[in-house]
Amino acid sequence: MAIKRIGVLTTGGDSPGMNAAIRTVVRYGIYNKLEVWGVFRGWWGLINEELKPFDHRSVSGIINQGGTILKTARCPEFKTEEGMKRAYETLKKYNIEGIIIIGGNGSFTAGYEFYKKYKIPCIGVSATIDNDVNGIEMTFGVDTALNTALDALDKIRDTATSMERIFVVEVMGRESGFIALNVALAGGCEEVIIPERQYNLETICHDIVEGNLRGKISWIIVLAEGAGSAEDIAQRIREMTDLETRAITLGHIQRGGRPTALSRRLAILFAKEAVDCLIHGESVKAIGLKKGEITKVDFEMAIQKKIWDVEGLYKMVKILT
Ligand code: F6P
Repeated sequence: MAIKRIGVLTTGGDSPGMNAAIRTVVRYGIYNKLEVWGVFRGWWGLINEELKPFDHRSVSGIINQGGTILKTARCPEFKTEEGMKRAYETLKKYNIEGIIIIGGNGSFTAGYEFYKKYKIPCIGVSATIDNDVNGIEMTFGVDTALNTALDALDKIRDTATSMERIFVVEVMGRESGFIALNVALAGGCEEVIIPERQYNLETICHDIVEGNLRGKISWIIVLAEGAGSAEDIAQRIREMTDLETRAITLGHIQRGGRPTALSRRLAILFAKEAVDCLIHGESVKAIGLKKGEITKVDFEMAIQKKIWDVEGLYKMVKILT
């Protein structure tokens, strides 16, 4: 029997383009004769029955907005048996036969556990600024976050060069160095420290001092938040080099703002594919971009630690410095 009613939720950290994805699920779903229900605050909304039917106009005027009109949350309660059971009961009560999860790999892990227990079809739309969904080259939102971080970094470079200082710039990524490494590459930075690679601060300081002797005084070191704290590393560099070093943390500005054209385009195409998947009876698949194509990856693979070319990119950062 054809699926009639679906739910859509955003969960985990927000990612620019989520609204464009919600709008697509709603309007493309309605175009395909589905009833689409919006679930608020991610899994929390399923547990607490915070959901309502959406129509064409529910998603008017949101395509260019960052954040998510559905709100999002991290929901430890959904990891409990009781939480999952309540979410399932809500879905049954409202006759929702499939869900579209807009989020990252933590969201898909939760969705996968839920599916294994209750067999409610669910499809993931890869949305995270961390770009850490395994098997997928690009999630949506990461392009906007990269551009936001790069814009800040370019500005920092102006003052770093003018005042001949060392800067440690902390970007987001608790377990992922994707933003850090790519911003360092695109921003022409001297060094990058990420969770995926071991680093030696003494070697870095040695290079700084050597450079300093040759007349190279300003340095930008990009740091992923999961690899340390900017303040702490700046302090240690100060102590080891005796050079003026400043720390700056970009933080949550990287998650906000108007989604770029690429983030919106990917959000729209992933969300369309997710609706098609539910219509065709598919489940536990994450949608993302791979080799320029919209691709489906089984949740089982998507939630593994992401494999990507860390060493190749790091080498390029260093060669081009
Ligand atoms: O959504 C991903 C992310 O932005 C990570 O890069 C970061 O470590 C984390 O979320 C921060 O989460 P929160 O806003 O819940 O502190």
